[in-house]
Order: sequence, then structure tokens, then C-alpha cells
Amino acid sequence: MDKNQNATIYTGDIAEERIDPTREYTAENQEIIFSAEQHAIWADLFAGIHRPYLLEHLSHEFIHGLAYLQLDPLHIPTVAYLNEHIQPRTGWRIERTAVRYTLADDWYGKFAQRIFLITDYLRTRDQMEFTPEPDMFHDIFGHLPYLTQDFYARIEDKFAPAYLKATQEEREVIKRLAWYSTEFGLVMEDNRFKVFGAGTISGRAELANTIMEFYRLSRDKVFDYNGDVFEQLQDHFLTHKEDINRIVAGVNELHRQGQMSSQDKGWNVVHALYKNLGIPHEGYLGGEVILAPFDIETIAKIPKTVYAFNPMFFVCESFEQMDALLDSYLKPIVLRN
Ligand SMILES: [Fe+2]
Repeated sequence: MDKNQNATIYTGDIAEERIDPTREYTAENQEIIFSAEQHAIWADLFAGIHRPYLLEHLSHEFIHGLAYLQLDPLHIPTVAYLNEHIQPRTGWRIERTAVRYTLADDWYGKFAQRIFLITDYLRTRDQMEFTPEPDMFHDIFGHLPYLTQDFYARIEDKFAPAYLKATQEEREVIKRLAWYSTEFGLVMEDNRFKVFGAGTISGRAELANTIMEFYRLSRDKVFDYNGDVFEQLQDHFLTHKEDINRIVAGVNELHRQGQMSSQDKGWNVVHALYKNLGIPHEGYLGGEVILAPFDIETIAKIPKTVYAFNPMFFVCESFEQMDALLDSYLKPIVLRN
């Protein structure tokens, strides 16, 4: 990687953990015998999200996939089970990895072969509400129901071919586009905000925060649900564009100073940021997280917040729009010689 570029582009990635390559899983040893405590943690995480008042806020694509995949609420599934249910549907294959947070370049190499990596690490009891690391529950529960669905498989198919051809700067944008769509994206369905991203779905605290924001926007009458909500979102975004740009610049600065390094710290410093910038924390900007239309220019400017809650989420008007917007950035890179 170009050292100068490395110095100027803040990636927000978790520090890479190099592992002993002999520890990595092979085609023959994909399965793990989990402890009773690990199955119990899985069961508690599963039960925590599997509630009608939470599920109603998740996108239909996820709900359909979940119904299809039929994950066992009490036991962590085997890789064989996952492949039996996913591969015939969309052609994607699951592989186990010992790498707890893989380098994006290696990961996209596998992705290009339609191989989805799942880690062998499961969060511990003290991380039930929030874990910055994508653990096995995130990988399996958050992503894999989707990988039985054609639309999601098509979305996931877009990233790797572009990433492998992209410049270093473009790669950072591609990672952010993936982060703010497949990991933390929102989508409109039936004129309501729905959670789309696997990171939000598998993260109890961030999911609750997001749903609370949906309710707040209604309670504070920021949006009139009798009208077109996405249109109103776009209007608010444009009206507050200047403040949003200042907040995005401020969030970048906080990241550079290492102040977004934990869940509590992250939110406290974002709240302080509003104050320092003189932006009233009310109305459209009055929540725990700012919702904005899926605007590629803004997404390119805001880093991924890994160790704390994301201060901004991006909403697509429809799945078709998500498809088209991602294509508008990724396709020209794929088609480049
Ligand atoms: Fe993920």
C-alpha cells in the first residue's frame, strides 16, 4: 500500500490480526465442536432478536431468508448445514476461517469466488449487547439468511469484482459503500424505514438504538407518515446539508484523534460535537443517529465507525435503487481495462 495514502485515508478498520497459517481451516476440517456455553450464548442471542416487535423492523428480504434458512434457535449450525441450504439457492459457499478480522484484500479475494467466510469466534457473555468484531453470530445470523435470496446475492456479487480492480482510494470508498449498505444500511418498505444491514441486525444495542430513532422521528413529528417518507428524508437532508457536512468533518476529526474507540466514548463525543459546532440537537438532527438518503458523495466522506455506534445511517428508497446506486459507482470500475 502507498504509505502516503495510508497516512491520509482513515479506514476505521479493526487492527489486523495475523494468525499462524497452520491454524487456518482446510476443506476437510470445517466443523467445530462447540461447548455447551457457546451454544447457550448463540441461543440467547437468537432469542434476543427473535421477537415480533424487533423482527417487524427488519427488511422483508431478511425475514424471507430467515424463514428459508431455518436456523436452529438452540445450536450453532454446522458449515455443512449452511452450505446445503445456501449453495443450491444462490451458488454462494460458506467457509470457516480462523482469522478474526480478515484483511479486506484477502476477504474480497474469497468474495470474488462467491465464498463467504465465517469466523470461528463467538462473542462472550459481556459482549451480548455490542461487539465491534464481526463474530460467528454476526456472520451467520446477520448475513446468511440473506445469502439464500437472489437480490442480496446479486448485491454481494457487485463488490469484489470492483474492489479487485479499484485504486487504493476507490477501495476505501467501496468498503464504505459495503459498510453503509450490507452492514448498516436501511431501506424503505411500505413507506417505513426497515433495517437492512447485517451489522445492525446482529448487534442488539445498535438495533435497539436504530428502532428507537424510527419511533423518535415519528414522535417528534419529523416525518409525516401519511406522506412519502423518503421524499421528506431527502428534503431534510438537503435542507441540513451544510450542518451534515460539518458533522461528517467533525466525525472524521474525532476518528483521527482516536476518540471513537469505544461504545460509550463514541456517543458521548458525537453529542459533544453537536454542541461544539453549535448545531441544535433537535428535530431532524435530534436523535442518536442521523438518517440520510444513500448519497455516495457523503458515504465516501464518512469513515466506518467500528468501535462505537455509527453516527449516520443511509437509506435506500427501494432495493432497486440500492442496486442502481451501487452499480453507478462499481460498474465503471469493473468495466475498466
Ligand atoms: Fe458483516
